[in-house]
Amino acid sequence: MRFSESLVSWYHQHKRDLPWRQTIDPYGVWLSEIILQQTRVDQGLPYFQRFIENYPTVSHLANAPLEDVMRLWQGLGYYSRARNLHATAKEVVNKHLGSFPNTYQGLLSLPGVGPYTAAAIASFCFGLPYAVVDGNVMRVLTRMHGISDPIDQPKTRKQLDALANQLLSQRDPATHNQAMMEFGAMLCKPSNPDCQICPFNETCVALRKGIVNQLPIKSSKTKVRDRYFNYLVFNHQNQLLLKKRTDAGIWQELHEPPIMESTKLLTEPEMRETELWKKLVGNRKNSVVDIIEPKPHKLSHQTIHSRFFIVEGGYDKKAISDDGLLIVNEKDLNRYAVPRLIEQVFISHFQDYNP
Ligand code: ADE
Repeated sequence: MRFSESLVSWYHQHKRDLPWRQTIDPYGVWLSEIILQQTRVDQGLPYFQRFIENYPTVSHLANAPLEDVMRLWQGLGYYSRARNLHATAKEVVNKHLGSFPNTYQGLLSLPGVGPYTAAAIASFCFGLPYAVVDGNVMRVLTRMHGISDPIDQPKTRKQLDALANQLLSQRDPATHNQAMMEFGAMLCKPSNPDCQICPFNETCVALRKGIVNQLPIKSSKTKVRDRYFNYLVFNHQNQLLLKKRTDAGIWQELHEPPIMESTKLLTEPEMRETELWKKLVGNRKNSVVDIIEPKPHKLSHQTIHSRFFIVEGGYDKKAISDDGLLIVNEKDLNRYAVPRLIEQVFISHFQDYNP
């Protein structure tokens, strides 16, 4: 049997029943793929369902306030994807009259849609012969063909794209692509794959050579930067202060309490010496009633070390309006999209907070 036939036969026996596989509507497929670039299937499922419920069509999503979209995305991380999601929905509505382009090149022209997502939509929705190549697929291909070149190099990526397209079923690219991803996710797993029951265990080069667990190889480890965020959480007449992060970088458009970034975490006396404290508290006799120090929060390229100073007492009203700070009632806190790190602190600190 040819590779694709064996693969698809495995798929029909083992596939999971996933909602985005019930549709050929490009909107649903696109939405699921953007969510699944960010998280695993089990974690992504409730997000997909919530998005579809709240925004059943691309027009609903395009017309929603960005704030609401960010709030629904909350917890998935990598918030630029949520902004792109919204921007793409607007573009589909404004430039394409609400219908996703039906060609690979047309799909690629959308913001936030790269070769992987374009191939997924093109094949699943329009039956076009474009192979999807994501992390799962690269793992399957490098193992089966014993490719030990680093997969994060453009030359290897090209080789894998070509190989994936050679193997692709021309008759049913949609099922082939779904099968390839499912096979990578379920059987040819990153560690301890089930080689004994694999339909390809007689031809898999990595298995023969005993290097299954070593593939795929990556050349460069991403450099991770440490950052130190010191926060002031006011606790004044059931109100606190929040500010929207507007600059490019992490957490754009999300809210956080007033922050002082530093080269190490600050102690309370050091915090009292900062410009932030002086500006907001001045010479009021505020006391720090609690200090919360979550464990380091790991993002793809940064580790955020943080300390939250819970401060009782008032603040300078003028400094607040100058600085674009918002006065927020504790009971309204869940209306604001916040990063995961801050959500966890709010959950531990505010009894009624329920994001
Ligand atoms: N991961 C990314 N896309 C997927 C899909 N369509 N089905 C299952 N897992 C996936």
